[in-house]
Amino acid sequence: MGHALRIAAESDVLRTHPRMTFQAGAYSYEIVSDGQQNSYRVSDGKETIREPILYAFGNAHVAQTYVYRRNEKLYEARVSYYTAIDGLDWTIGDVLNPPPSLEEAAGRDISGDEARNCFSCHGTAAVVNTKLQLERLIPGVTCETCHGPGGSHAAVMLLAPGESLYIFNPKKLDAETLSQEFCGACHRGVDTVAMMPDLGGINNVRFQPYRLFNSRGHDPKDARLTCTACHDPHEDLKPGAAVYDSKCTACHAPRGAEQANIRTPGKTAAVSSTAKSCPVASERCVSCHMPKVELPGAHFKFTDHRIRIARQGQAYPY
Ligand code: HEC
Ligand code: HEC
Ligand code: HEC
Ligand code: HEC
Ligand code: HEC
Ligand code: HEC
Repeated sequence: MGHALRIAAESDVLRTHPRMTFQAGAYSYEIVSDGQQNSYRVSDGKETIREPILYAFGNAHVAQTYVYRRNEKLYEARVSYYTAIDGLDWTIGDVLNPPPSLEEAAGRDISGDEARNCFSCHGTAAVVNTKLQLERLIPGVTCETCHGPGGSHAAVMLLAPGESLYIFNPKKLDAETLSQEFCGACHRGVDTVAMMPDLGGINNVRFQPYRLFNSRGHDPKDARLTCTACHDPHEDLKPGAAVYDSKCTACHAPRGAEQANIRTPGKTAAVSSTAKSCPVASERCVSCHMPKVELPGAHFKFTDHRIRIARQGQAYPY
């Protein structure tokens, strides 16, 4: 999460892609980088809008979105980089058919509340007394975002690791608060999603705290099911299904265990206190029970955190 936001000059995507283009009807889009300067250009064939890119949002696990300034306002570029296609496509939620003007074809005005929210979730320290102060921005989700306040504390910790000198230690939160409110502040918990029209539609597959909360039979108050049970927020995401098996078998008895124990007197009690075992398989649990769901326009399959028996042809449960 440290790379959730960068100043454009530090974007690896821009550095390794000197020229990217995208065409939609009469409009042509171009992102040009020479290693120092990054320029966003949009033309309708007659006129051209040309602005330097200021910020690159996202580490490009899925995508990277660019933000520029024009006439004192901040804009989100209409096109983003997608890793799966190694190129540009419409920024999610921003498709315009057809764009009404060159200005609007180029970007979406995010000045005001929206920019403030983007920089709060992807960056650190840029919002002071509800005002966006970009001169104070520390790009990315940093130690201070989760353990702050006080920049000096972060530095102290790096010098003296192992000592709890932080003002705030999220380890002290109960399981549900940690997942729904702490991680949920950015990843969107059940209360945030409940206020969205249509619960966000299929977009809510990106809202892991909400999805996890609604897993049938799974108690959000159980520490074996918090976000941190499966993810260390200080490390990169671990790919692959097998790494997560031990998280499931922390509660679910291994396949066949119940039957085996009926014939082993004395062990029945211990096993029956755990959750049911799977009649189908004994490993790679998440590959079937946390299915990957394609989000239209994202060029990415998100992992559905609603743990469930996913039947073929069954509609996505909101
Ligand atoms: C301040 C906002 C914020 C908070 C709080 C937050 N996250 Fe994130 N998280 C993000 C953003 C933004 C991304 C997108 C990452 C990127 O583009 O680098 C992300 C990405 C992730 C990823 C995917 C990492 C990857 O390699 O792509 C995981 C896993 C994750 N967060 C887990 C957590 C957990 C667990 C917590 C709670 C302990 C948490 N996050 C709290 C903002 C936040
Ligand atoms: C409520 C907090 C929040 C706000 C507001 C927010 N984001 Fe994010 N964003 C996240 C989280 C959490 C993720 C990681 C999970 C995911 O991919 O949905 C993310 C992921 C992304 C990604 C994909 C990153 C990757 O991992 O490849 C991009 C690009 C992005 N956001 C751009 C933006 C831009 C631009 C804005 C403002 C217009 C914005 N976000 C507003 C929380 C937020
Ligand atoms: C996305 C939020 C997030 C970020 C960013 C983050 N942490 Fe943490 N940190 C946590 C959570 C949540 C815990 C508690 C984990 C647990 O329950 O095991 C934690 C625990 C810790 C602990 C252990 C505290 C204890 O009592 O055991 C240390 C030390 C720590 N973090 C240091 C750092 C440092 C240094 C950075 C920056 C490099 C950092 N953290 C960035 C969320 C975060
Ligand atoms: C039982 C284990 C488990 C728990 C609990 C869990 N996750 Fe995940 N998470 C996964 C798996 C598995 C993946 C996909 C890993 C891969 O790429 O193969 C994943 C992926 C992610 C991603 C990357 C985007 C994606 O869809 O692939 C984010 C962000 C994330 N989790 C956030 C969270 C947050 C926030 C919580 C707490 C609400 C949470 N996770 C709880 C297992 C878990
Ligand atoms: C905190 C303990 C716990 C953890 C961790 C856990 N489960 Fe469960 N799970 C339960 C309980 C309790 C039930 C309710 C049924 C039962 O008693 O078996 C359940 C039910 C289920 C169901 C049936 C759901 C339905 O709709 O009927 C599936 C499938 C499942 N779990 C898979 C998993 C997978 C896969 C993992 C790991 C990603 C996991 N569980 C992690 C406790 C847990
Ligand atoms: C190849 C896909 C697949 C894998 C891998 C898999 N399961 Fe299942 N699981 C299923 C299916 C399908 C069902 C539903 C069986 C039925 O009811 O017909 C199921 C059912 C379950 C149930 C509900 C049992 C009940 O009696 O209600 C649980 C709990 C469960 N699985 C847990 C797990 C765990 C834990 C793992 C990893 C150790 C796992 N599954 C691996 C496909 C899988």
